[in-house]
Amino acid sequence: MKKIILSLFILLVILSINNCNNKENNNSGSFKIANSVDSLASEEELWKVPDTNDIPDNEFGELVRYGRQLIVNTAYYIGPEGKVGKYLGNKMNCTNCHLEAGTKPYAFNFFSTHARYPQYRARENQVLNLGARINNCIERPHIGKHLPLDSKEIIAIQCYMKWLCEKVPVNGHVKGDGPVKVKYPERAADPTKGEVVYKRDCAVCHGANGEGKMRLDNVCYENPPLWGDKAYQAGSSVHRVLKLGVFIYANMPNKIASYDKPKLTIEEAFDVSAFINDDAIHMRPQPITKNDYPNIKTKPNDYGGGPFQDSFPVSQHKFGPYQPIIDYYKSIGKEAKF
Ligand code: HEC
Ligand code: HEC
Repeated sequence: MKKIILSLFILLVILSINNCNNKENNNSGSFKIANSVDSLASEEELWKVPDTNDIPDNEFGELVRYGRQLIVNTAYYIGPEGKVGKYLGNKMNCTNCHLEAGTKPYAFNFFSTHARYPQYRARENQVLNLGARINNCIERPHIGKHLPLDSKEIIAIQCYMKWLCEKVPVNGHVKGDGPVKVKYPERAADPTKGEVVYKRDCAVCHGANGEGKMRLDNVCYENPPLWGDKAYQAGSSVHRVLKLGVFIYANMPNKIASYDKPKLTIEEAFDVSAFINDDAIHMRPQPITKNDYPNIKTKPNDYGGGPFQDSFPVSQHKFGPYQPIIDYYKSIGKEAKF
């Protein structure tokens, strides 16, 4: 009799524990869903990239790992003396600009990239798929030649980007994936003032002549160049003062500055961007293609060369102040594109 009572008691305990578990599962299930939707919608928290330890151990995972390697050691594989092929014209790595293999917030990262392609691209006035967009960066800033779209390398880079944003909704943006929002300086960016900032905060790593510093193995850079014949090409996105200024503000000096702990004021960041990108002071490789932005209506307003569809001088488009341009477009019911 005692035995029967005891087993009944144990059965009851087990049943009630099970019930609790079920409740908990249900709760946490719905909580999780609500939470992930909230974090996308409210954008309270910065997007968290997946952990590389969670790259799957299968063929897709192999490509993801190779793709990440290509981003970090680009020149080793496809540089001027690349082991896979000679595609790039310079020894820069993708990660020199897409910091931390494209996983740092507000640092030209790949948080949501895969989810937003194919996409209309104004520079070519065409819809590009992701492989073609990757080739775009290989062409400029890397002064390179296109890899075949079905090459293992283009597929691997796409797999890495796919893995990075598997949880990002199609066409979605997530917190931290674009440029950090700043109030643009009220005056034009000043290359002379920028030179002072450069000598004070940048030359120690990027060199007195913006030449950077090669790694000892001579494959790629310890600190990449900023101008000169080995630096990024004119017409690259970073050749635009506003785009580069915001990046510098949130990221340079490297590993010291971050979007929430910038080292420069926004004026200093734009001044030094103007100093780096002023073609009257510094030379850099010129692109062979000259027919960028065939439709001037879609041309970014900080692009270095005219014509533009308004009457602001080309120098104001390049160096600012940008707010009057923004205000003008607003006054005619349009949005100024940068
Ligand atoms: C000199 C700097 C620089 C280097 C080096 C560079 N890129 Fe870029 N890349 C950029 C900038 C700037 C953008 C535009 C980002 C923006 O508009 O927010 C960009 C955009 C992209 C995009 C589109 C991102 C998106 O979300 O729309 C892809 C893909 C890309 N780069 C891939 C690469 C790959 C792969 C490499 C190496 C082979 C590379 N880039 C090397 C500066 C660079
Ligand atoms: C401590 C060394 C260091 C300092 C100081 C530093 N940088 Fe950098 N910078 C780097 C490194 C390293 C990278 C590439 C990051 C990587 O590959 O992980 C980089 C990348 C860049 C890039 C994009 C890649 C390129 O070459 O075009 C720009 C632009 C840049 N730095 C500008 C600046 C400016 C402006 C300053 C001064 C405000 C500055 N940096 C200070 C080390 C430094």
